[in-house]
Amino acid sequence: MTLVSPWQDRHPRPGPDLPVVPPAETDVVVVGAGLAGLTTALLLGRAGLGVVVLEATHVGAGTTGRSTAKVSLLQGTQLSRVFQRQGPRALDQYVTANREAQAWVHRFCADHDLEVQVRDAVTYAHGEAGRAAVEQELEVARRAGLEVVLDEELPLPYATAGGVRLPDQLQLDPMALLLALRRQAEAHGVVVLEGTRVRGVSGRAPLRVATEGGEVTGTHVVVATGMPVLDRGAFFARATAARSYGLAYATPRPVVDAMYLSADQPSRSLRDALAATGPGGSPGSGAVLLVGGEGHPTGRDRSPRARLDRLRAWTAEHFPEAEETHAWSAQDYVTTRGLPYAGPVLPGTDHLLVAGGFSKWGMTNAVAAALALAKGVLGERPAWAAAFDTWGRRELGGLPGAALANAEVGLELTRGWLRPLRHPGPGVPPGDEGGQVRLDRVGPPTATSLVGGVPRRVSAVCTHLGGVVGWNDAERSWDCPLHGSRFDADGSVLEGPATCGLTPR
Ligand SMILES: Cc1cc2nc3c(=O)[nH]c(=O)nc-3n(C[C@H](O)[C@H](O)[C@H](O)COP(=O)(O)OP(=O)(O)OC[C@H]3O[C@@H](n4cnc5c(N)ncnc54)[C@H](O)[C@@H]3O)c2cc1C
Ligand code: FES
Repeated sequence: MTLVSPWQDRHPRPGPDLPVVPPAETDVVVVGAGLAGLTTALLLGRAGLGVVVLEATHVGAGTTGRSTAKVSLLQGTQLSRVFQRQGPRALDQYVTANREAQAWVHRFCADHDLEVQVRDAVTYAHGEAGRAAVEQELEVARRAGLEVVLDEELPLPYATAGGVRLPDQLQLDPMALLLALRRQAEAHGVVVLEGTRVRGVSGRAPLRVATEGGEVTGTHVVVATGMPVLDRGAFFARATAARSYGLAYATPRPVVDAMYLSADQPSRSLRDALAATGPGGSPGSGAVLLVGGEGHPTGRDRSPRARLDRLRAWTAEHFPEAEETHAWSAQDYVTTRGLPYAGPVLPGTDHLLVAGGFSKWGMTNAVAAALALAKGVLGERPAWAAAFDTWGRRELGGLPGAALANAEVGLELTRGWLRPLRHPGPGVPPGDEGGQVRLDRVGPPTATSLVGGVPRRVSAVCTHLGGVVGWNDAERSWDCPLHGSRFDADGSVLEGPATCGLTPR
């Protein structure tokens, strides 16, 4: 079961697509039709190159369609993170990249009549630890040339210890943005193929991209799938899949004046949104409050549903007039080095490129990655793109974090294989709905589930690198604790890096 964001709900999928036959050969194949992939495709299509986009499910099914979509240069405590791990030069490049991307998004929205709201961004503190982080972010943001101020009194309905505020940032509807990018890309000759999962890429230039239904050959291939679906480059070992939860509420009027994110626990994100339009496109009444938080590494939480309930209880306490309309969940990839990736999958493979690791700030970073990659393909990679380089000394800044993250992955791998010993024998889980990993008499563990009265048995071993999946009780899915692949109860892939489903048993 997939939970749907308000943006996905507002822009339901049109009827089945007319069959599209892609050219067998093209200049650029883009894998993934999220913000990074579609922006890259549009930029290269506009430059006159032949581009084919291959999308496993459909436009907006990934993280972008579930984003909180704050398009901001103040990003929680991300600037401090970049500064601590990579120093002042990388910080300047990172901020320049994000500034360019934000301006690009703003121009694109203005040119295509997309609604954008201007709001301040605020990183605030619940208590003492948060206050120290806020003060540090203030200092680092000033150092990076941002006109931030310290705000001691915030108009929130609960106690805070002040926040750092950056005026005049943006928020928008990310599905509207994706759909407009798609329309513009297609107007420039880009072919977008939905329902086409890429299984692998082989060869040199030209590269062969294998899908479930055939092969497309491209001089360049850009893999923009969040976590790269290729094992080459081992990006899965340099980032952690982080899942978090969102709730949307109808409110009689806007109840928050800015885009808020806490620096300390409990992590809480707030923004408003315009109410959905009424019949015939008439303005909707009231406003929308979006509340986010309760993040954790994918597949490593006992009960995602309990997390959603905690977020609900917190909102009911502080915004009692708000009426819930949507609950959803999404994941992004947080790099150990603190910076995103946009560049060759391996040193010297300039035709096979990856973009990802946006650490929950992809509304600007995915666009910056697309600008860096597209300009690189056209021979004009900008100087700030050095912050996004996939290989080089910047990796050193992430080594301690990578060692820790991979130790945790090792531990999860062991735990995953030991846990089913507690549930020997076949069978379905107790209760009406649920899932349990069990150890059959022979062979690897089996993931058994009961959803909507339908019992299912699939292999519990993730097809990526052999992690043992665990049950996600909020979305009724099997989630891998190693690198964040997710599978439906029937075993089909929901999100990568896995490209093949769990085998039925
Ligand atoms: C809860 C949450 C809130 C967020 N809020 C913000 C915010 O307020 N501001 C901000 O800047 N950022 C935010 N982010 C981050 C931002 O939304 C993401 O970084 C960004 O949307 C990622 O874009 P993308 O194009 O890389 O990925 P996606 O949008 O996920 O696109 C990747 C696409 O690749 C496809 N794909 C995957 N595997 C394959 C395959 N094998 N073959 C073909 N296609 C494939 C997927 O189906 C998907 O459509 C948030 C993230 C989360 C999780
Ligand atoms: S996602 Fe890598 S092993 Fe499952």
